Amino acid sequence: MDKLLIRGGRQLQGEVYISGAKNAALPELCACLLTAEPVILSNLPRLQDVNTMLKLIRNMGVDVQHQAGAGRDGRVTVNAGSLTTPEAPYELVKTMRASVLALGPLLARFGHARVSLPGGCAIGSRPVDQHIKGLTAMGAEIVVEHGYMIAKLPQGWTRLKGARIATDMVTVTGTENFLMAACLAEGETILENAAQEPEIPDLAEMLIKMGAKIEGHGTSRIRIQGVEKLKGCEHQVVADRIETGTFLCAVAATGGDVLLRHGRVEHLEAVVEKLREAGATVTEVADGIHVQSQGRLKAQSFRTTEYPGFPTDMQAQFMALNSISHGTAKVTETIFENRFMHVNEMVRLGANIQIDGKVALVEGVEKLSGATVMATDLRASASLVIAGLVAEGETLIDRIYHLDRGYDQMETKLRGLGADIERVK
Ligand code: UD1
Repeated sequence: MDKLLIRGGRQLQGEVYISGAKNAALPELCACLLTAEPVILSNLPRLQDVNTMLKLIRNMGVDVQHQAGAGRDGRVTVNAGSLTTPEAPYELVKTMRASVLALGPLLARFGHARVSLPGGCAIGSRPVDQHIKGLTAMGAEIVVEHGYMIAKLPQGWTRLKGARIATDMVTVTGTENFLMAACLAEGETILENAAQEPEIPDLAEMLIKMGAKIEGHGTSRIRIQGVEKLKGCEHQVVADRIETGTFLCAVAATGGDVLLRHGRVEHLEAVVEKLREAGATVTEVADGIHVQSQGRLKAQSFRTTEYPGFPTDMQAQFMALNSISHGTAKVTETIFENRFMHVNEMVRLGANIQIDGKVALVEGVEKLSGATVMATDLRASASLVIAGLVAEGETLIDRIYHLDRGYDQMETKLRGLGADIERVK
């Protein structure tokens, strides 16, 4: 199993390229299932979850061609005209919860689908009851049998029917599933309490290029007029705001001066505001973000909430920064029930953090000291990388397959900025 070896203490300098967003690429690959025509997706990040999604749709009979000369601009042509098996098996779904995104498009186009239940996940129970509730409101008949959601249309129906869907909580992949399904449903669908994360308007823009009729994306109320058919299109995946935020926190923690090419401040206001209050200089520049930081910053309290609030996917990385800042910060996690698993590992590196239920109290320390730590989930891994970059001596991070699931060449990018980091087998 690969590990990362980091020798901490170097400042980060230079320029780094922000990749396409994992959380946009995954639903957008599923949106390709809505049409029998070829779809070209560009700026696809090179990471394990994208590979898993490509495997999942190939397994259905979909043709996926990587474009020659793709280089770092991962470009694929996806043709779901050849799709024969509208199914997502457990073996693939268990490694990536986002596979549930196949359910809406498959059901909408084929009238039936069989998708494995995702099962547990390290950061909490993460049920899919809302996905089932919303698609059922559109007329789908869904039974859960032998660990699978088996969905079909009622006898005599050829399409889902538009509906008003109000979920009990804001759900990102739930909103995406309903949005995709509604594009091919009969009549109007209204999504109340819709998620507003930037990946949703990006998906909606792609669906509109495919011929969908959507209004209100990016707000909490999305209206969709169903059409009979969608066509192929070309779409560029939006830049990854969480990768951007991760690099911003890394520079803030180590000190240095970095340009994040393609990073977008407007998708990350809540995090940028906290970084500025902490004492980092974050400036929007043409096609990117410039960040500068010197010395220890001021610890910042925050609560994770839905977009445009502070993202749960940035909680661990900002906690790494807080752990070596001046002062005390209260970090409250409101989205997932078990998302503090990085804390014990940071404590091994010398951080002073106490957990009480949903709240972590971070008392900044002057320095961390390198140790062997274990990555437990995707964003926790990123936070340990940041901690390792500032810790004195060597930090060895085990189980970095979590990191590879969601970050495109993280250690190569960090090395390019001057970090002493290497992958060891
Ligand atoms: C997405 C992101 C993930 C991010 C999360 C929250 C993708 C592929 N993943 O995950 O990186 O951390 O948003 O910003 O985009 N819930 C239910 N029942 C449901 C659905 C959700 O109870 O049917 C609960 C969840 O357990 C959680 C909350 O709703 O407590 C929000 O989850 P949700 O927005 O659905 O997260 P994901 O879409 O899975």
